[in-house]
Amino acid sequence: MARSKTVKSRVKAAAKKSARKVVRLKPNKAAAKAVGNGLPRPSAKPWGQVGRALEGVKILDFTHVQSGPTCTQLLAYMGADCIKVERPGVGDITRGQLRDVKGQDSLYFTMLNGSKRSITIDSKHPKGKEILDRLVKQCDVLVENFAPGALDRMGLTWEHIHKLNPRMIVASVKGFGPGPYEDCKVYENVAQCAGGSASTTGFRDGPPLVTGAQIGDSGTGVHLALGIVSALLQRIRTGRGQKVLCAMQDGVLNLARVKLRDQQRLAHGPLAEFSQHGEGIPFGKAVPRGGNDSGGGQPGWILKCKGWESDPDAYSYFITQAPVWGPICDLIGKPILSMKEIAEEQSLRATGTVVEVDHPGRGKYLTVGNPIKLSDSPADVRRSPLLGEHTDEILRKVLGYSEKEVADIKVSGAITPPEKPGKAEAA
Ligand code: COA
Repeated sequence: MARSKTVKSRVKAAAKKSARKVVRLKPNKAAAKAVGNGLPRPSAKPWGQVGRALEGVKILDFTHVQSGPTCTQLLAYMGADCIKVERPGVGDITRGQLRDVKGQDSLYFTMLNGSKRSITIDSKHPKGKEILDRLVKQCDVLVENFAPGALDRMGLTWEHIHKLNPRMIVASVKGFGPGPYEDCKVYENVAQCAGGSASTTGFRDGPPLVTGAQIGDSGTGVHLALGIVSALLQRIRTGRGQKVLCAMQDGVLNLARVKLRDQQRLAHGPLAEFSQHGEGIPFGKAVPRGGNDSGGGQPGWILKCKGWESDPDAYSYFITQAPVWGPICDLIGKPILSMKEIAEEQSLRATGTVVEVDHPGRGKYLTVGNPIKLSDSPADVRRSPLLGEHTDEILRKVLGYSEKEVADIKVSGAITPPEKPGKAEAA
């Protein structure tokens, strides 16, 4: 009782305060200008101590594998509360993929799901659906990257979500946008082929190549994160949520847009910056694989450098762009970084780009921190959650279920793995 009174009086005081603010701003245009058109006055608090950029934003995180988790992890780094929903007993499939420590969540999972909370819910169980509806009402954004139609089959159609919470932003990664391939399930390399990256990568006398950078998965996740933040900003004006869709094909094409540029330039003559032009080899109808040509209009190539005899990564990209000639010369003789060197590079640790976290099962591991640095919003990089680690906490503290209700939910089977056949009989 005492607590709710305090909360009530705090809310009253805050309402009074904000009402006073509005009254002051309205008639006085000069004052409004000085404070930035309705924005609060610049905080006088020390940098980094005003809470994180996305604090207060709640994400219903229905993502799995890589593309969706990349997106929600970035949002979590920015301060959003990411509640990851996983299937009881199973979880995100990557928990068990490419395991390096027996019986423990893999690096694949842990490096993409840190700074989130995990709740297990069977989304097809009636009680599970009820819990999900409650989460939909509480959260600001639902992020998912299921196969096309899977969310609808769970009953979480746009209409259903929008009815429960008209402010909800529903953000999805799919392989393709609307069109002939929209029903396809897609993984990374298909997206690299469909988005025009593979056909333009590799040497011209060899097959198309996929790149090790996960431009289809992680790249699309990054695009989606920007879409979500934009929709959150728009919601401040409109008061309503919207759908955000990022197709992996579109994401790859966006990252390979210089190749689409070159495709169009081909109609006006050979691409003079490609080494094949210098060698007198004619162009075909499509942009050729560029090998290590720079693609920026200046000659460039990968060259062996110091230590190449024993170090497979001892190569340097050399480009003769006039304005950077001096710095390039300064760099000659220094290796390009290998993954081993990146992992050990102290400057990356210092900036929080590479972070060591401690996992209760697998011990310490390195993860990639927030690559997007905000001067007033330090990233909080935490280890990934164990499967269902926060189920109780979310049911009680976020959704307000009582002890008794939580106990009933547990018995219902909505948040626990199904009993193994034979176990019940044996008992
Ligand atoms: N409770 C109950 N069921 C759940 C569940 C939960 N908590 N979470 C997932 N499921 C179910 C889904 O409802 C779906 O069931 P349905 O087929 O009966 O509708 C089922 O699990 C499988 O989901 P799906 O997304 O089809 O997984 P998949 O392993 O067959 O396919 C992908 C994986 C990645 C290929 C596919 O999800 C996809 O194409 N996603 C979009 C593109 C993408 O993000 N690709 C890159 C991944 S890095």
